[in-house]
Amino acid sequence: MAKSIGFKKVKTAVFISGTGSNFINLLKFSLIKKTPIKIILLVSNNSKSKALKFIKRSKIKKMILRYNYKSKDENRILNVLKKNQIKLICLAGFMKILSPRFIKKFNGKILNIHPSLLPKYKGLNTHKRVIKNKEKYSGCSVHYVNERLDSGKIIIQKKVKILKKDTPISLAKKVLKQEHIIYKKAIFKVFSKL
Ligand code: GRF
Repeated sequence: MAKSIGFKKVKTAVFISGTGSNFINLLKFSLIKKTPIKIILLVSNNSKSKALKFIKRSKIKKMILRYNYKSKDENRILNVLKKNQIKLICLAGFMKILSPRFIKKFNGKILNIHPSLLPKYKGLNTHKRVIKNKEKYSGCSVHYVNERLDSGKIIIQKKVKILKKDTPISLAKKVLKQEHIIYKKAIFKVFSKL
């Protein structure tokens, strides 16, 4: 994992596909004095993301790509990452699967947040599946990214109780709240071990 030397913060890129609430949360976190990261770049395959509006007047660089041509798009991203000396990638609701080649280049330096208690419910539609299976608990996990989907080493998790009245939407809201809390904790944890 990239090192935070002295007060020098680790140059970080965040990849998103959705609204970007996790990105906004990480951005606010990166502005705190004690934080080990500095967000330099936002990569989004959603041109309508709220996150893009949020950074409109900031110095954060952005890349918007459709990700239709994976290897071409990944090469473009890798160039920008290199140019900006990015040492950490945080996937935050990024719904595209990175190629093994890309992951190898950033081995051990990519984190992801997933809205389930991994290793349970990898992949899509987690809340719907969790409720259908009448689980009592769900939650969220921050993990390192490896070549297998949602399977890298878990850094931190948070359990969320499921109530009888919960729907996939209400559960998603509760879990998202916890995602915002544990992503910051996971980053502190990753850097405290160095
Ligand atoms: C989060 O629940 C994330 O875990 C999932 O997609 C959602 C993205 O939310 N993969 P946001 O775009 O960060 O608001």
